[in-house]
Amino acid sequence: MRPQLITWKVQGELPGNFRLGAQFAQVSGVSLGMAKTVLEVAERAAPAQAAVWHILPREVPEDGSAAETWARVDGIETEIRALPDGPQRCQPKPGDTVVSVIVGAEGEPMLVGCHRHQPGDLGDPAALLRLALPPEAPSRAWMKMEQALDWLGIQEDLKGRTVLELGSAPGGASLSLLSRGATVYGVDTGAMDARVLAHPSFHHLKVAAGDLRPGMVPDQVDLLVSDMNLEPRVVCQYVEKFASRLRPLGLILTLKINSAKVEAELPDLIHRIRDWAPGPVYVRQLPANRQEVTLVSWQ
Ligand SMILES: C[S@@+](CC[C@H](N)C(=O)[O-])C[C@H]1O[C@@H](n2cnc3c(N)ncnc32)[C@H](O)[C@@H]1O
Repeated sequence: MRPQLITWKVQGELPGNFRLGAQFAQVSGVSLGMAKTVLEVAERAAPAQAAVWHILPREVPEDGSAAETWARVDGIETEIRALPDGPQRCQPKPGDTVVSVIVGAEGEPMLVGCHRHQPGDLGDPAALLRLALPPEAPSRAWMKMEQALDWLGIQEDLKGRTVLELGSAPGGASLSLLSRGATVYGVDTGAMDARVLAHPSFHHLKVAAGDLRPGMVPDQVDLLVSDMNLEPRVVCQYVEKFASRLRPLGLILTLKINSAKVEAELPDLIHRIRDWAPGPVYVRQLPANRQEVTLVSWQ
């Protein structure tokens, strides 16, 4: 066990459809072995016959990997993509076999593994891990929103879409949504960042979620977001109420895990959200999440 890389030895055969299903893992799969060179990587990966490969640094500090780490990862990726019959794609489709190559420190062997891509898996974990907080972002929530949109696969274009965000101050997530063309209604008694407030598509509703009344927001919204620092059970009471009225196509909720009690209640809560969510529900800890997980659902 090393920081951010955990391996288990298994006695006997794993079933062909084995999935770890860990919500706190960015990626998990079955090991194909270690490799010192790119040619050895290709040998280890050959039985998987994967069209999609992800090359990832072994450890990603909270504020992102250093430029030299990415330079080494990029160098290996370039060599791998130049291999005869080398992989061509980064974005898998459900059912695709994906090879992951975990690149450690200089001189350390690489770990090669594979998994079958399923809905709810990260499309390209490397793309999420490469995101860095821009200096103009009002808060780290910018990263959380960028990563959630990437995960949902709706990152490019939110033009014409309406978003209601509960717990919007100071505005990192709102800025991410606004810069993709969305109209954002931000609900928070806290102060919003001046750049977000000045945006023509931003509407600040300076009230608590419980005081939001019909008429303050449109009759229907496309995306319902919550980043309120309240117990997940309370967040879900608000979100369910708004979802039944505003019929969103999607949800992006951060659920704060501030105690062991909250953690223990979470599976049951997620189960109940599945009853009213607009589409399939997926939960995971994104790289930018601290003591919290992100729940997404999209029609
Ligand atoms: C983690 S911060 C939100 C960060 C924000 N999403 C961003 O992008 O910068 C949590 C916010 O939830 C707000 N909050 C807590 N309870 C709330 C409630 N009942 N209604 C609305 N906002 C609430 C707090 O005022 C706080 O600004």
